[in-house]
Amino acid sequence: MKSITINQQDKVEQTKIEMIDFYDEATEDYEFWSKDLNMHFGYYSPFKNSVFARKTMLNEMNNQVLKRINIPKDKSNLIDLGCGVGGTMSFALKKNKNVSAFGVTLSSFQVKKATHYLKAKKELF
Ligand SMILES: C[S@@+](CC[C@H](N)C(=O)[O-])C[C@H]1O[C@@H](n2cnc3c(N)ncnc32)[C@H](O)[C@@H]1O
Repeated sequence: MKSITINQQDKVEQTKIEMIDFYDEATEDYEFWSKDLNMHFGYYSPFKNSVFARKTMLNEMNNQVLKRINIPKDKSNLIDLGCGVGGTMSFALKKNKNVSAFGVTLSSFQVKKATHYLKAKKELF
């Protein structure tokens, strides 16, 4: 019988590289999915929104997330772990004037895109 040894650390590193490559390449495609750069599939509430109204579903997902984290009215910081291109952060900034947002992503391409996008919307300082 032949045995092979897989170094767990190498496997973790390889997965990370593949994830970064995936997001670096796939991010631009999402612009066709959501002009507001949401990289999720939205939230459907029966009798409230329609599965055929994508923008409404995408915004509803952001709404549901914000509702659950219950951002305080006074000055607060929001950290989005896995922020993509900042679609949810941008939505949160629009709804909450006293919030500062900080996003984390593996993809430096997404950071460049988010910087460009949020600057254009005057949401990045
Ligand atoms: C499908 S996208 C979702 C983006 C965003 N939350 C949205 O809904 O628009 C997943 C994001 O998670 C990030 N991500 C995945 N694993 C991560 C990790 N271990 N550390 C940091 N970011 C990570 C990716 O880089 C990507 O930005």
